[in-house]
Amino acid sequence: MKRTLRLMLAGAVVALTASCSAPKSEIDRKVDDLLSKMTLREKVGQMNQLSGGAELAAVAAKGEMGSVLNCVDVKQLNAIQKAAVEESRLGIPVLISRDVIHGFRTIFPIPIGLAATFDPAIAEEGARISAVEATANGIRWTFSPMLDIARDPRWGRVAEGSGEDPYLDVQMGVAMVKGYQGEDLSDPASMAACIKHFVGYGAAEGGRDYNSTMISERSLRNTYFPAFKAAAEAGAATLMTSFNEIDGIPSTGNKWLLKDVLRDEWGWKGMVVTDWNSAGEMIAHGFSRDLKHTAEQAINAGVDMDMMSYGFIQYVEELVKEGKVSEKDIDNAVRNILKLKFELGLFENPYIDETASAKVDYAPEHLEAAKKAAVESAILLQNKGNVLPLDKAKTILVTGPLADAPYEQLGTWAFDGQPEHTVTPLTALRKEYNVIWEPGLKYSRDNDRSSFAKVRAAASRADAAVVFVGEEAILSGEAHSLSNLNLQGAQSELIAEVAKAGKPVVVVVMAGRPLTIERDLANCDAMLYSFHPGTMGGPALADLIKGKAVPSGKTPMTFLRDAGQAPFYYNHNNSGRPCHGTETLLNDIPIAAGQTSLGCTSYYLDSGYGPLFPFGYGLSYSTFEYGNPVLEKAEYGKDDVIKASVELRNTGKYEATEIVQLYVRDLVGSVVRPVKELKGFERVTLAPGDSKTVTFELPVSDLAFWNIDMEYVVEPGDFNLWIAGDSATGESVNFTIR
Ligand code: GLC
Repeated sequence: MKRTLRLMLAGAVVALTASCSAPKSEIDRKVDDLLSKMTLREKVGQMNQLSGGAELAAVAAKGEMGSVLNCVDVKQLNAIQKAAVEESRLGIPVLISRDVIHGFRTIFPIPIGLAATFDPAIAEEGARISAVEATANGIRWTFSPMLDIARDPRWGRVAEGSGEDPYLDVQMGVAMVKGYQGEDLSDPASMAACIKHFVGYGAAEGGRDYNSTMISERSLRNTYFPAFKAAAEAGAATLMTSFNEIDGIPSTGNKWLLKDVLRDEWGWKGMVVTDWNSAGEMIAHGFSRDLKHTAEQAINAGVDMDMMSYGFIQYVEELVKEGKVSEKDIDNAVRNILKLKFELGLFENPYIDETASAKVDYAPEHLEAAKKAAVESAILLQNKGNVLPLDKAKTILVTGPLADAPYEQLGTWAFDGQPEHTVTPLTALRKEYNVIWEPGLKYSRDNDRSSFAKVRAAASRADAAVVFVGEEAILSGEAHSLSNLNLQGAQSELIAEVAKAGKPVVVVVMAGRPLTIERDLANCDAMLYSFHPGTMGGPALADLIKGKAVPSGKTPMTFLRDAGQAPFYYNHNNSGRPCHGTETLLNDIPIAAGQTSLGCTSYYLDSGYGPLFPFGYGLSYSTFEYGNPVLEKAEYGKDDVIKASVELRNTGKYEATEIVQLYVRDLVGSVVRPVKELKGFERVTLAPGDSKTVTFELPVSDLAFWNIDMEYVVEPGDFNLWIAGDSATGESVNFTIR
């Protein structure tokens, strides 16, 4: 508590200084002026967000809806806006919002796929293109980026985030905020970002969505906060509270989170919205007595806008009259909402140009960017005998339920992407090869093997076979947790059937999460893992299969051998008995083995010592050789910058891009520290035979963490440092912080 007070005082000093010294902006003056004219009912109206269409015009006309979500019909939106602006007493425009998660019309790879690119620039470009298309449709607020750290692929929403690593999460999250918001929110092509779900939602017990989380303050600060803090500092305009409770406190009613940390410690001045009825759900949590109590708790915790609980609009006036909620807090909330509306220029330009979308949707440059992102998001997991690229094959068999599935290929949260614009792999491959097309299965859960003989016969007539498997879009995303991560239906059997033909077999997986595909790897020569690649997934995959493009993606999450290993992540603590990789495995256990004879360390008897693929892993058509990392010196002070270099050589036959990764390990801390932490990465493209010295500059201050005293400090001591192609390989070098 002492520390929190100290941090709050520090934050308050910052805020006080800022408020005393900074003159009120023009917008602040407009907000204060408007606020002074508003009735309590009108103020509460601004705090009310509803989902629907033109039927909400009547609510807007009464000034009782501050924001609308889930309508993309521009005529209906203009009708709602007209009612708000021309019929309500004060004419305050409605803020139009939507989940534009990985594209509006042009759909990019799902966010976990964008994370696999380790290319913040492409994520920013995708977000910008999303904003251009969405704002043309009248949407000025998106509920993205999702910054939830995810360590458990059973959780369906790993699809929407950047995976398991805080550093990668920061880079991709900040890039997307910049893309959505551009240089200036008043730019009609900009829309407010919404960093979500604050906080810890991805740590749901058992990977079951919405479930309890038990996260210490130190873990919150070291693992789950960093991307939110960075995105807040980058100017994210809004933040969404999460459904989960942390140690018994639902985030939507968590004052420590929403006021002490977000406002007082971080000094963030944006607008806080609940998740869909997450205020109302505090009744189900057992945190609130009734809807009125949820409104009291959410507002007193620091929530500004209520998404779809109807609690605020029904009860806040009563709560103010009863003294349970202060009008000062209401004014602060409404100030945050009005400030955003002025910043977006809604008062000057509230209406949508109904011809605008047609000029930007699916623009060639948007499709090109989506294809580039899909190429970069594909991860080459295996390539036995360098079967890929299929640059000699003339006739190929294309089979599998994801080969020609325009809707599934878009992935989860792609509401407004139109499948008729999707270019599937089948369509794209027909331009490159003589294609024999045999679906084999109709959809990913299909168990009908009646056409398998036909598929195998077709494979025997082809030079090679490409099998597209994975997940229907509905099998990942919100509320879609899985306890078994194997390929659904008879997809694995389809792969095995094709393999019987004895021709080269390439498997392409399109999924919303890392699946457990170890047995499928045994039945194919090569595997490309593309997550759901979006509108241009077909041309991207065709270029990769043909060799017109070279895979560069890396795993943004650990790939498991078995769902029973979850949660499994590279940046784990070491435990007192770390696995050393020689322990006895299930099938080697002698009959009547002695109780302690197998090795007393942390591993699984059945699924072994580690995951299938580690974080940061991905092959190329070329090969890369790393020299040992070199440091400028062996000892650093706390204000120094560590310069670390490595010689990287392309030792293969293709020009290719390698994502060079910098990891450190703090060997001894006042609390135990992860066995590795990503602290930098760089995409390096080299021609065959070329080499380059890749240098990272790592400020010692980036090694800070929340220590035993809950202070954010760099502790002196010894560190290891790696520069490698993934989180599990490479030589290390030591350095000391004095
Ligand atoms: C959903 C999701 C959230 C989304 C919101 C609005 O339940 O949890 O991510 O932005 O509701 O659709």
